[in-house]
Amino acid sequence: MKLLIFGRDGQVGTALTQLLASLGEIVALGRDGADLTRPGELRAIVDRTEPDVIINAGAYTAVDKAESEPELARLVNATAPAALASAAVAHGAWLIHYSTDYVFDGDKPSPYVEDDETAPRNVYGTTKRDGELAIAEAGAKHLIFRTSWVHAPGRSSFAAKILGLAQSRDELRVINDQIGAPTSARLIAEIARRAIEQIERSRPLEIGTYHLTAAGETSWHGYACYVVDAALRRGLPLRTSLERIVPVPSSEFPSPARRPHNSRLSTHKLRRALGIDLPSWSADLHGTLDSLLPEPNP
Ligand SMILES: NC(=O)c1ccc[n+]([C@@H]2O[C@H](COP(=O)([O-])OP(=O)(O)OC[C@H]3O[C@@H](n4cnc5c(N)ncnc54)[C@H](OP(=O)(O)O)[C@@H]3O)[C@@H](O)[C@H]2O)c1
Repeated sequence: MKLLIFGRDGQVGTALTQLLASLGEIVALGRDGADLTRPGELRAIVDRTEPDVIINAGAYTAVDKAESEPELARLVNATAPAALASAAVAHGAWLIHYSTDYVFDGDKPSPYVEDDETAPRNVYGTTKRDGELAIAEAGAKHLIFRTSWVHAPGRSSFAAKILGLAQSRDELRVINDQIGAPTSARLIAEIARRAIEQIERSRPLEIGTYHLTAAGETSWHGYACYVVDAALRRGLPLRTSLERIVPVPSSEFPSPARRPHNSRLSTHKLRRALGIDLPSWSADLHGTLDSLLPEPNP
C-alpha cells in the first residue's frame, strides 16, 4: 500500500503522517514539495509516486483572511482538489479529502446530515464546498470527511490561546452562540487509518461524504471553561477563574467572515459504516491538553 499525503505540516497532515506510517510506504509532502497554488504541477507528482491512496490534508484555512484572498483560497481549496481527483482517476487511486462544517449556513436547529443542502456563509466555506463538488464531478473513488473545530498538540490551538489569555487576564469573554464539536487531528487520522484498512481488505467504505467529529457538543464558551477547569485541576496558576469566563454573543467580536451558529454534524453515517463509536469531545481533547498542561496529580 502506497500513500501520498499532501499538506504534511498542518494539524491533520502531521497526525496522518505519524499514524499511517504502519500501513505501508508513505510519501508526505509539505508546501515545499507540492504547492497547492500550482494545481498544474500536481498530476506529475501523482504520476511519479503512483499511489494507491492520495490523502489531501492541505487547505487554505485562514477563514477571515480568505475574505480578502478569494482567488488564492479557491486555488488551494477547489482547483487543487479537482486536479488531485483527476489524477486519482487516471491512476485508479482512492482520494481521501477533508472538508468543513462551514459548508453549511448553520441555521438548521439540529445536527447536519451529509445530504443536507450546503449554503456556505463565507469564502472559505464556499471554496471548500466547491472542492467537494469538483472531486465528485471528476468521478474519483473518494472519501470526503467533513470535520469541525480541529485541534492538535501545540501552541496554536484554541486551548493554548485560552490558557495564554487565562494566565495574563482577569476576565475572558468567549462566544457562546456557536455550537459544535472540537475534534482532534489524531481522531481524524485514526478514522483515515480505518478507512484505508478497509480499502486494503477490498471492503472500502461507500464512495462519498462522511461527517467526522468527536461526540457531543459545546460552545466556544463551554470549550474554554473545560480547558480552564482542566488547567486549574492540574495546578496551573491562572489569573482567570471559571466564574470570570463570560459568555458573549458572536456580535461582540465582529470578524470579516460570517460563521455558522450551528456547526453540529451528525456522525451516524460514519459510525454505522465503520461499526464504531466516537469518543466524546472532552475525552478526545486530552491529547491536546496533555501537550500544554503539567502531568495530572497521581
Ligand atoms: N482547522 C479546523 O478547525 C478545521 C475545521 C473544519 C475542517 N477543517 C479541514 O480539515 C483539513 C485539515 O485542516 P488543518 O486543521 O490540519 O489545517 P492546517 O493546520 O491549517 O493545515 C493546512 C495545511 O495546508 C497547507 N497549505 C496551505 N496552503 C498551501 C499551499 N498553497 N501549498 C501547500 N500546502 C498548503 C499548510 O501549509 P503551511 O503549514 O506551509 O502553511 C498547512 O500545512 C482541511 O481540509 C480543513 O479545511 C479544518
